[in-house]
Amino acid sequence: MVAVSQRLVIHQMASPQDDGSFAEDVRAGLTAAPKTLKPKYFYDALGSLLFEAICHLPEYYLTRAETEIFEQRAAEIVAQLPSPITVVELGSGSSVKTRLLIEAILARQSELCYQPIDISETILEQSAKQLLEDYPGLRITAHAADYTRGVGSIAREDGEKILALFLGSNIGNYTPDEARELLRQIRGALRPGDGLLLGADLKKSRGALEPAYDDALGVTAAFNLNLLSRINRELDADFDIRRFKHRAVFNDERSRVEMHLVSLTRQQVNIRGLEIVVEFQEGETIHTENSYKYDLEMLAALAERTGFKPAPGWLDSNARFSCNFWLAI
Ligand code: AVI
Repeated sequence: MVAVSQRLVIHQMASPQDDGSFAEDVRAGLTAAPKTLKPKYFYDALGSLLFEAICHLPEYYLTRAETEIFEQRAAEIVAQLPSPITVVELGSGSSVKTRLLIEAILARQSELCYQPIDISETILEQSAKQLLEDYPGLRITAHAADYTRGVGSIAREDGEKILALFLGSNIGNYTPDEARELLRQIRGALRPGDGLLLGADLKKSRGALEPAYDDALGVTAAFNLNLLSRINRELDADFDIRRFKHRAVFNDERSRVEMHLVSLTRQQVNIRGLEIVVEFQEGETIHTENSYKYDLEMLAALAERTGFKPAPGWLDSNARFSCNFWLAI
C-alpha cells in the first residue's frame, strides 16, 4: 500500500486579503441599515464544532435525510456517470457523507482521485488523513480555498469524468442570484458529460422548518450568538451576549429561513479593533443567515439556467430533502 503522505497533496490558496476581510465585512454590516453579518463567519473553530453538533440534533433533519439517500442510493447515484470518475467536492468539511459515495465508486474502479475544496486547511488535513487510511485506492488533492478559486484548479486525467459534489443544502445559503452565479462558475469548470450532485433542502411547513433552526437545546442559538463572541475575540469588542437573543423565522414569500440576532435592550457596543461604537435599539436585529428552501420545479429551472440538464432526483423517505444529479451540457 502506498503511504498516506504520498497520496495527499494540499494546496493552500487563501488570498493575502482574507485576513482583513472579516474586519471590513463586520464594519460594513454593522454600520448598514438594517444590520447584517455574513454567514461564512459562523465557521471559526468553535462555530465549526457547533455546526457539527447541529447536524446531530433531532430537529435538524437535513444531514440525516441526505445520509439516508446516500445509504440507499449511492450505487445508483455514481452510476449516472461512466467510470473512471474523479470527485470534486465544494465545502467538503469532515467528508462524512461523502464516504458513502467514495465507497460506491471504489466498488466500480480500483483507484479514485478525490479533490475536496474547503476554506479550512485544518479540516481538510484531518479528514483527508482519515480517508486515506481507510481507503488504500484513494488519492487526495485538496484545495484550501473559497469555492470560486478552488473550482478553477480542478484536475482530471485523460478519459476521466468529473463528478462535482455540492451537498448539505449549502446552496441554500446563497441568494437566488448568487446561486445562479456560483452554479455557472461550477459549470464553467466542467466539460459536457461531467455531472453535478446537488443536495438541496425542500420547502415545507413552517412547523417543520423553524424548529430545525431553533432547537430546544439552544445549539443553533449558540451557533448564531457565537458570531458576536467571535467579534469580541478577534476585534476586541464588548458585546454582552446575554443582551441578544437568537431568532429563526420562515419567510414564506421568499422561501427561506432567516436567522437574526435581536437586541434585548437599547445598548451601545464598542468595537475597539474597528474604532467604532455601534448603537442598537431595543428589538433591533442583525440578519445573519438565509437558508433558501427549494421545490423540484425551482431546482429544474435553476439547472436549465446554469448549463445543466436536470434529471429526477432522489428524496429521503419523508420527502424532506432532495439529491439532484445534473449533467453538464
Ligand atoms: C451550512 N448550511 C447549509 C446550514 C443551513 O441549514 O443553512 C447552516 C445552518 N444554519 C443554522 N443551522 C444550520
